[in-house]
Amino acid sequence: MNIIGTGSALPKKIVTNGMLSEFLDTSDEWITTRTGVKSRHVISDEKLEDLAIKAALKALDDASISAADLDFIICSNVVNEYVTPQLSCIIQGGIGAACPCMDINCACAGFIHALEIAESFYKAGRVNKVLIVCAEEPTRMTDWNDRSTCVLFGDGAGAAVLGPGENIRSIKLSASSATDKLWQYRLLHPTPYITKEECDVPLQMKGQDVFKFAVKAASGDISRTLAEVSVDPDQVDHYLVHQANTRIITAIRNYLHQPDEKFPVNITDHGNSSSSSCPILLDECSRAGRFNEGDLIVMSAFGAGFVSGAVLFKW
Ligand code: ACO
Repeated sequence: MNIIGTGSALPKKIVTNGMLSEFLDTSDEWITTRTGVKSRHVISDEKLEDLAIKAALKALDDASISAADLDFIICSNVVNEYVTPQLSCIIQGGIGAACPCMDINCACAGFIHALEIAESFYKAGRVNKVLIVCAEEPTRMTDWNDRSTCVLFGDGAGAAVLGPGENIRSIKLSASSATDKLWQYRLLHPTPYITKEECDVPLQMKGQDVFKFAVKAASGDISRTLAEVSVDPDQVDHYLVHQANTRIITAIRNYLHQPDEKFPVNITDHGNSSSSSCPILLDECSRAGRFNEGDLIVMSAFGAGFVSGAVLFKW
């Protein structure tokens, strides 16, 4: 399986740290030094599905194929305005595809989980062209009066088209249940048989626990991914790490003893866009001409669950 096209789309509204400090007890200095985020793109009058469709169409164009050529669509999403139908069906209609599709919710590690699923389809000989779309609006999950969470996130969509090939060298996924560290409740409709009090709760996060998990999981996933195919960290040309916090990225880089130049970042002006973060970064690096043919790329992501994963692929 090879990645043969990428695309991304961001909401037009840009919210700077200065704008947040107008209504929150925070500052550009605190947010920048603790997270690396200076501004983020936030959904306003757009719909997430429109961003997803835009990113998908750009990826199809980049791959020089049409929606009719697709055999499967996998959409990674945590929340959107529909409980049902799944977002992938909305994207399928929006781009004019006719293939089967499914949604997955693997939090910020969704893109790598989608790659693993697609890889098994390829190995089974069931597909020729697959579209992965990650579309996320975490700014709709947080309490905008909670300075410890809302400053971290931004919205967006990233997509990749896959074709046959041998460029995916190794993928490793992990999960360890820790549901009290990062979670959100949805309010379901009452029934005559529900007796407990229910309320909807915005995103809750134990930041330092998430931080420690992220560094440990990413370091372990990347090491296992490289070890499986006997590749040394020094042989990797680029490390695309989930854009959650520049301090997390620095800790992973220090663990691997790798130079800063191998770790592109866009968190500065995107914030954490959950599972969209990795494919958006991939698309931006690709369009900026940052990759050469044959480069070895590691991607690593981690999120609520906890779940995490890493993949090694050739460009
Ligand atoms: N502005 C100003 N002060 C703040 C802010 C803010 N935006 N947020 C928290 N503080 C305060 C706290 O109230 C606390 O004050 P106190 O000492 O008076 O109690 C102080 O800053 C320190 O708070 P900590 O939580 O200890 O700060 P920390 O250095 O751990 O940084 C952060 C917090 C940035 C959330 C960090 O823990 C982190 O990045 N964790 C990882 C979280 C993450 O990546 N989440 C993304 C979700 S994972 C995924 O992608 C799905």
